[in-house]
Amino acid sequence: MRLVAIAIPAIYRSTVGKKAVMAVTGGILVLFLIAHMVGNLKIFYGAEDFNHYSHWIRTIGEPAVPYRTVLTVLEVVLLVAVVLHLWSAVSLAKRASKARPVKYRSRKKSHAQGYAVHTMRYGGIIIALYVVWHLLDMTFLVVNPAGRDATPYERVIQDFQPSHWYITAFYVVAVLLVGLHLRHGIWSAVQTLGFRTPRNDRALRALAATIGAVVALGFIAVPVSVTFGWVS
Ligand code: HEM
Repeated sequence: MRLVAIAIPAIYRSTVGKKAVMAVTGGILVLFLIAHMVGNLKIFYGAEDFNHYSHWIRTIGEPAVPYRTVLTVLEVVLLVAVVLHLWSAVSLAKRASKARPVKYRSRKKSHAQGYAVHTMRYGGIIIALYVVWHLLDMTFLVVNPAGRDATPYERVIQDFQPSHWYITAFYVVAVLLVGLHLRHGIWSAVQTLGFRTPRNDRALRALAATIGAVVALGFIAVPVSVTFGWVS
């Protein structure tokens, strides 16, 4: 037992350990995003289906377990994954800047790496801020125009009305960043976890780009369709 307690922080302190934590927690977050995106698309089946889905998430496992048990467990897993993902990212970034006190002189290297580092770092910060806004909007209902008594369907419809085009624009930008983040993140994760070989490199890059694009487009479909009046 003591050995495990000592071994875990030791693994975590290593760069490889932190990257593995990023890869595994990133994987959990990707699964959540795919499930959330698919769930959101239910809006195209109408109010009843969408509201039923929202009710179903809260009642999974009933009556064996009380209302909202499974959702609460999923929320805790999600929160722990987000915290560990951010924590590892910050500590890897600190470590990288310590190891490289003088900026790269080689322009070629700094362009290629700089793009990925910038998209991941600043993209990640904007996504984190977006999630805070999104929770205030759709979960805690603090900033949602439809108010507390509205159904989940009404909240989504009210949120993205043409008069709130800037909210739709914010969602679209954030979700495009999520797509880019997934593209690079998934590719990095498979590399960290040792799945990448010279032979499957191109296929893995294509897979990461496809998942990023599908998730981004699937998410974008909902706010844009409401703003353009295709769903009302
Ligand atoms: C752009 C399209 C999106 C729409 C229309 C949307 C809609 C919603 C709605 C309606 C809820 C409340 C669900 C309910 O309480 O039944 C929700 C919750 C949530 N969304 Fe989104 N979402 C979108 C994108 C995203 C993205 C890109 C992320 C993450 C980066 C995200 C993260 C979350 C989280 C963490 C929750 C809380 C889940 C919980 O209740 O524990 N959403 N979303």
